[in-house]
Amino acid sequence: MNPTINKKRIIFTIAGVILLPLLVFLLFPMIKKNTGPPTDQQERIQSLYQQNCAGCHGAEGLGTVRGVRLAGRNFHPDYIKSTIRQGSTRMPKFNIPEPYLTDLAVYVGRLQ
Ligand code: HEC
Repeated sequence: MNPTINKKRIIFTIAGVILLPLLVFLLFPMIKKNTGPPTDQQERIQSLYQQNCAGCHGAEGLGTVRGVRLAGRNFHPDYIKSTIRQGSTRMPKFNIPEPYLTDLAVYVGRLQ
C-alpha cells in the first residue's frame, strides 16, 4: 500500500463522515420550511390577530359584543389597513409596522 494514498483516503473518509451529516443537518430545516404550513410568518400574523383583535372580533372573526363580524365580509385589504391605523368609534387605533400591517390585513380579509 502506498502510504500517501492511504492518508488521502483517511482524510476523505473523515471529511465525508463529518461533512455529510453537517450538510443534511443544515439543509433539512430549509427543506422543511418550504413544505408543511404553517410558516413562522403565518404564525406571527395569527398571534398578532389573536393578541390585538380577537378580544373584540372573536378568535375566528365572527364578532363579539365588543366588535363586529369580520369573517366573510370581503373587505379590501386597504380598507382593513386604514381601519387598523385610524381606529373607529369603538375601536382603538393600532400602530402596527409594515410588513405586518399588510399581512394582517390580508389575513383578516381571508377570514371566512
Ligand atoms: C376594543 C374592541 C376592538 C378591537 C381591539 C379591535 N376592533 Fe375592529 N372594530 C371594533 C368595532 C366596535 C368596530 C365597528 C366600528 C365601530 O363601532 O367603531 C370595528 C371595526 C373594524 C373593521 C371595519 C368593519 C366594518 O364593518 O367596516 C375592521 C376591518 C376591523 N375592525 C379590524 C380590526 C383589526 C384587524 C383589529 C386588530 C388589529 C381590530 N379591529 C381590533 C372593535 C375593535
